[in-house]
Amino acid sequence: MTTPLMAQTPPHNPIPDIPSYSPGLEGVIAGESALCLVDEGDRGLRYRGYAVTELAEQSSFEEVAFLLLHGKLPTQQELEEFRAHLQQTRTYPDLVDTLLRAMPPTAHPMDILRSAVSLLGILDPEANDHAHLSNMRKAVRLLGQVPLITGRAYQLMHGKQGGQPDSSMSTAETLLVLLTDRKPDDAVFTMMARVLDVSLILYAEHELNASTFAARVAASTLTDLYGAITAAIATLKGPLHGGANEAVARMFIEIGSQDRAEEWVHNALKRKQRIMGFGHRVLKKGDIRSAIIKRHAEQLSNICGDTRWFNIATTVDRIMQEEKGLHPNLDFYTAVVYLLMGIPQDWYTPVFVCSRLSGWCAHVIEQQDHNRLIRPRALYTGPPPQSYVPIDQRH
Ligand SMILES: CC(C)(COP(=O)(O)OP(=O)(O)OC[C@H]1O[C@@H](n2cnc3c(N)ncnc32)[C@H](O)[C@@H]1OP(=O)(O)O)[C@@H](O)C(=O)NCCC(=O)NCCS
Repeated sequence: MTTPLMAQTPPHNPIPDIPSYSPGLEGVIAGESALCLVDEGDRGLRYRGYAVTELAEQSSFEEVAFLLLHGKLPTQQELEEFRAHLQQTRTYPDLVDTLLRAMPPTAHPMDILRSAVSLLGILDPEANDHAHLSNMRKAVRLLGQVPLITGRAYQLMHGKQGGQPDSSMSTAETLLVLLTDRKPDDAVFTMMARVLDVSLILYAEHELNASTFAARVAASTLTDLYGAITAAIATLKGPLHGGANEAVARMFIEIGSQDRAEEWVHNALKRKQRIMGFGHRVLKKGDIRSAIIKRHAEQLSNICGDTRWFNIATTVDRIMQEEKGLHPNLDFYTAVVYLLMGIPQDWYTPVFVCSRLSGWCAHVIEQQDHNRLIRPRALYTGPPPQSYVPIDQRH
């Protein structure tokens, strides 16, 4: 709700000419972007004008990343070149490997990724060039490097020799091989890789969410792309944002079986606990991405012969709609598919990073191509003007 500032302005407010104030910037238009339309009405969710429902059905994550960065769908040849670029960049400097090996076992995976991206920036001689083409090259490098760093960090932390991705693999296949015990010749591997690919498409971009806004604020100071992405990763970590998908999986594990779900949710609501994976700052009538991933979650559960997580999820979903009128967001049924794939919970948000990186980079480039420093104002709520008292006269 937007509250007129004048109604709340204390007499000493130094910025009386600012017309409105909305806590948490709810409903505030904070910038322009040609990347993503988030509309609860007929227009739906669109990346560069294309409906996410169609992209999830027909395209691949790589195609969507190209679309976000270049503003157009690739031709077959452009897509092949883009994939080849990503595959060539699927490597990282030795110093990043040293950093990953030096991480204590208690390190949070998102903090590891944040530190690794920061180090990539230190090591990139092109880091401080904000020209469009330079930023595009860095974006492609990051899209190639970060999934590999994510998987290697996991394997090092857990002492896994693990699978080695083949250089021709997609982002989804690379993550599946590195983060799970799945083998490419496993009967359900192809199906799982496709569902993971769909989840990467759905996670790729969502307008001015908190992490993207953090990236754009950083980029608007003309800091480097790596710095902006580091800020975005730090922001995505929070459980009210990207960290929700891990929290949902932990909730399903704690509930354990469908027959316990109803009582568990009622008890949690009695304690005024927030149920992760429900609600959205913008999408109050439901999240189309949740409906898409729910369909895949049901199919994959049937194929795997394991409907336990899906059944718990649908029960929690029903109770939340009955009791709170709240709809599941993308993180909710995504937890079902990641549980089925065997991705370790702590690594769900890093998988989200591997996808949202495409949207973040496109936003940083858009910001720096048409830059204006982002510097809003605050509604002052501190004390009225006071006279300085020398220290020996204070009590
Ligand atoms: C995403 C989120 C932060 C959006 O919040 P918001 O638009 O600012 O909504 P508010 O925090 O003002 O909540 C409005 C009301 O709904 C309730 N609510 C919102 N999300 C809830 C949830 N997940 N579980 C239980 N209650 C919830 C709040 O308690 C509040 O109730 P009240 O008015 O009785 O106090 C919030 O829905 C949430 O915390 N969700 C869980 C985390 C999550 O899934 N994050 C991923 C987002 S994509």
